[in-house]
Amino acid sequence: TRVAILYGGRSAEHDVSRLSAANVLKAIDRTRYEVVPIAISRDGRWRLQRSSGAGGDGAGAPVSEDGIEVALLPGGKGRLVAAPHDGAHTDLPPVDVVFPVLHGPFGEDGSVQGYAEIADVAYVGCGILASAAAMDKDVAKRLLREAGLSVARSVTVLRGDVGSFQEVAGALGLPFFAKPARQGSSFGVSKVNDRDGFDEAVETALRYDSKALIEEFVDGREIECSVLERADGSLTVSLPGEIIPAGKHGFYTYEAKYLDADGALVKVPADVPAGVADRAKEMAARAFRALGCEAMARVDFFLRADGSLLVNEVNTLPGFTDISMYAKALAAIGIGYGEVIDALIEHALA
Ligand code: DAL
Ligand code: MG
Repeated sequence: TRVAILYGGRSAEHDVSRLSAANVLKAIDRTRYEVVPIAISRDGRWRLQRSSGAGGDGAGAPVSEDGIEVALLPGGKGRLVAAPHDGAHTDLPPVDVVFPVLHGPFGEDGSVQGYAEIADVAYVGCGILASAAAMDKDVAKRLLREAGLSVARSVTVLRGDVGSFQEVAGALGLPFFAKPARQGSSFGVSKVNDRDGFDEAVETALRYDSKALIEEFVDGREIECSVLERADGSLTVSLPGEIIPAGKHGFYTYEAKYLDADGALVKVPADVPAGVADRAKEMAARAFRALGCEAMARVDFFLRADGSLLVNEVNTLPGFTDISMYAKALAAIGIGYGEVIDALIEHALA
């Protein structure tokens, strides 16, 4: 089975994707799968990388500019062509399945999933609609709420219609958060403590997207469950793990996530009462279904001191970096990294 592993990409999470892909490239069973690593540049070009480089360096999977440019052909059932700028296009061996190890817009939002649909090739993970819905925090929250799941209160603002500090603070209290609607890894997220911070926070969020969410501050712990759907449609939901922020970071920022060694601690399983763990698992499964997810997602929650849970977000292509929760939480219930990848590929081909 030839598996095209896509990574890098046009989103702000390009570097995170490289870190995720390094781990997928390391963990995938090369006796079962022939790996075709394709690095997507920041401007969106696909370049074939040498398949020998298992993990790449500390910066993640390689994105060599020397790699030959490739494309999947519409209706080609995985037909892959080399498409050099100066030279004849040639056929490469076709791929059986595409594994987008991409985060954020153009990778996690249904775009590349749509491309795979057009190419008529199997792909790992959620389909177009679930990918797009989960990526958009505004749309996702509407669907989650409609499914009876609790979410943090928020106000959606648009470029050119941002509302006023008074309105927002009146509705949500202080502090609150401003976030781009479609973004991951905390890019563009700021905490607002007062009027001065408001304009800047909204402007920052709207630099990443034309739509932003202003969300109430939830005083609680961050816990996350991994959901793995098997090819037969059955769900395995992990025990929750916990993100324990450490040090100077006021919340789980990009720096705390990936740059600062002491930025946060991932604790699996989370030290929570069994009743809370059960409720989180049940809600994670419900959130997965509410958004129409397939194969995998990581569902993130806030756990308040009174034991109540709010769904924060659903990540359809959760991180696979060294510090990422998705694989760790599944490993803690006995499903190793290799088995996760096997299950995902099997699901894609089913
Ligand atoms: N968006 C990052 C990769 C995550 O959710 O893990
Ligand atoms: Mg996310």
